[in-house]
Amino acid sequence: MKKRSLHPFIKWVGGKSGLIKDIDSKLPIEFKSGNIKKYIEPFVGGGAMLFHVLENYDIKSIYIHDTNKELINTYEVVKNNVNELIKKLNIFQEEYMLTDMEDRVNYFYNKRKEYNKGIENGYEERKVEQASLFIFLNKTCFNGLYRVNSKGLFNVPTGKYKNPNICDRENLLNVSEALQKVIIEHSDYKECAKNVTNNSFVYFDPPYRPISKTSAFVSYSKDDFNDEHQKELASFYNSLDMKGAYLMLSNSNPKVINKEDIFFEEIYEGYNLNEVYAKRFINSDATKRGAISELLITNYEGEESYAKIRVV
Ligand SMILES: C[S@@+](CC[C@H](N)C(=O)[O-])C[C@H]1O[C@@H](n2cnc3c(N)ncnc32)[C@H](O)[C@@H]1O
Repeated sequence: MKKRSLHPFIKWVGGKSGLIKDIDSKLPIEFKSGNIKKYIEPFVGGGAMLFHVLENYDIKSIYIHDTNKELINTYEVVKNNVNELIKKLNIFQEEYMLTDMEDRVNYFYNKRKEYNKGIENGYEERKVEQASLFIFLNKTCFNGLYRVNSKGLFNVPTGKYKNPNICDRENLLNVSEALQKVIIEHSDYKECAKNVTNNSFVYFDPPYRPISKTSAFVSYSKDDFNDEHQKELASFYNSLDMKGAYLMLSNSNPKVINKEDIFFEEIYEGYNLNEVYAKRFINSDATKRGAISELLITNYEGEESYAKIRVV
């Protein structure tokens, strides 16, 4: 049977598309050989790794979590109501393309208002509409960012795209089919513990620890993820290690700007800290969109032997 290609249906800060090869090369041998039966992603975001797994591995049970309610609603709608969603996105696509550049600004802000109304008033009966607005805003806002104000309302300004792909029908249909076996949960990452067994592989991609004051973009939702949260996450990682699960965690590498910074060596003592190079596309400063060193922290030795973290 021909494999269907799958990719994230939204852009997301920290998206892992550029790192998939490195992540794949460091998956446990047991995962590649099909002996691991469960895949769990507690901070799913745009799901680049989830879709890579769905496309390339035959895993029986898959669980994803995220605290961003709108994002999880969109995953659920893509899974359960994809045809209705495509109809709505097609309308947005047509209307947007028929509108001249100046009027697109008004079009965008009207849709943003409608979306925020959904957040304020609830959208139990309008889940598909809310998901279609979420995708529309993601495809047309500035750099595909997701940022909210203190009230939880989306406040990213409009972008300037000539020809945005608002309705990628084929990918949405493929993703929807692939998601049929995925359990989707709107929850804190800690909730995933109930499903973790010694036969599980857990890939953590939490909000990154900022490596400098100017790169402090960790506001995916209104709750910030500070160093105390990173430490709490490390003890959670420890608790899953005790269960015998296979674990991999991505984070920024503080040594990029301060080689004395041993924050991650301390909180992940005894684990493998590997350095990989990520291409970063979501950065408002185009000169900073290059390859940057990141960490992949595993509790197992990989297929290849790779060096422990290098001091740069
Ligand atoms: C770095 S992004 C994930 C990137 C993603 N893996 C990708 O490829 O696009 C981090 C995600 O964690 C979510 N998040 C933040 N705090 C969380 C928490 N306490 N529990 C679960 N998810 C959380 C954010 O909403 C965001 O989607």
